[in-house]
Amino acid sequence: MISDIKKEQAAKLFEGAQDFLPILGTDHIELYVGNSRQAAHYYQTAFGFQPLAYSGLATGQKDRESYVLVQDKIRLVLSSPLSPGTDMGRHIDQHGDGVKVVAMWVEDAEQAFQETIKRGAQAYMQPTVKEDEHGRVKLSGIHTYGETVHVFVERKEYEGVFLPGYVSWNPEYQPSEIGLKYVDHMVGNVELGEMNTWVNFYRDVMGFTQIISFDDKDISTEYTALMSKVMSNGNGRIKFPINEPADGLKKSQIEEYLDFYHGPGVQHIAVTTNNIVETVTELKNRGVEFLRVPTTYYDTLIERVGEIDEDIDSLKNLGILVDRDDEGYLLQIFTKPIEPRPTMFFEIIQRKGATSFGKGNFKALFEAIEREQELRGTL
Ligand code: FE2
Repeated sequence: MISDIKKEQAAKLFEGAQDFLPILGTDHIELYVGNSRQAAHYYQTAFGFQPLAYSGLATGQKDRESYVLVQDKIRLVLSSPLSPGTDMGRHIDQHGDGVKVVAMWVEDAEQAFQETIKRGAQAYMQPTVKEDEHGRVKLSGIHTYGETVHVFVERKEYEGVFLPGYVSWNPEYQPSEIGLKYVDHMVGNVELGEMNTWVNFYRDVMGFTQIISFDDKDISTEYTALMSKVMSNGNGRIKFPINEPADGLKKSQIEEYLDFYHGPGVQHIAVTTNNIVETVTELKNRGVEFLRVPTTYYDTLIERVGEIDEDIDSLKNLGILVDRDDEGYLLQIFTKPIEPRPTMFFEIIQRKGATSFGKGNFKALFEAIEREQELRGTL
């Protein structure tokens, strides 16, 4: 036990010495949406997020209304503008509802800004201190792909509910949680030929390393293909797969995303659970729709992944996919897009040792996506 703790401390020291951008975890994800009040209701009702904080007219915020929701370590911020002609409104017009800010929790927001700017990042927000009666927070930010940004949040001197400017939001309506734990990874879709640009950005500017790569031989169906590389920060708490379309006979799901989002952006947010059968059962009961693979997927499942703890019939009924790597297995399922445009969706994932991303499921999954594209007339 003691040696474990020592090892951990040594690892931390080593990490601190090596990593010019130490990141403690995902701080929050902010979506710009058409109607933040109704979106908050959806994330409460369907996904079991709990109300945390509010900022808007009632707090003296004149240009936007934001709701903050939380489930274990996942914090979502949903923001809408209060008047026409705003940058936020233009963002929503251009992209539909989508992720604007992927915020990272850091020890030192000033240092995170200086180190990334020095390495070529474009400034989004100069280091800024925000204060209220609960303490002070330092924020800074840089641009990444498309109009997406990273905000660095330093909150070690803050005791408030979320950030200065927000008050506690505690409505009567509070549907229960559904077991979501933390953000496992967030995927960015970028244009053809741009994957390496952004892989290099995360490597050179943010100090991430590439942990996996998939090419079109791994990820292709009869019609469509894509390429993907997964970038991870030093302690592995932040993982960003970056996808670009590859040539296929018909339009790939990545191209469809880029067409409808009008540029690069966040494609999906993968969130973990410790019991995917219970979580997905609950999501379905609350109206969330998932992609389905043909039930024949389950005929050879055990041959492919070996023995697993879960009951195959439950997985089959819910449409949960399984994949194995050298370290263990994982269970995963993908929602349909959560808005009118076929853009952003969620992945629910349970890891049982596996550290990979479900490569063995890509083919079945992309065929399922293509059936949906066919229905939309966008294949
Ligand atoms: Fe994923």
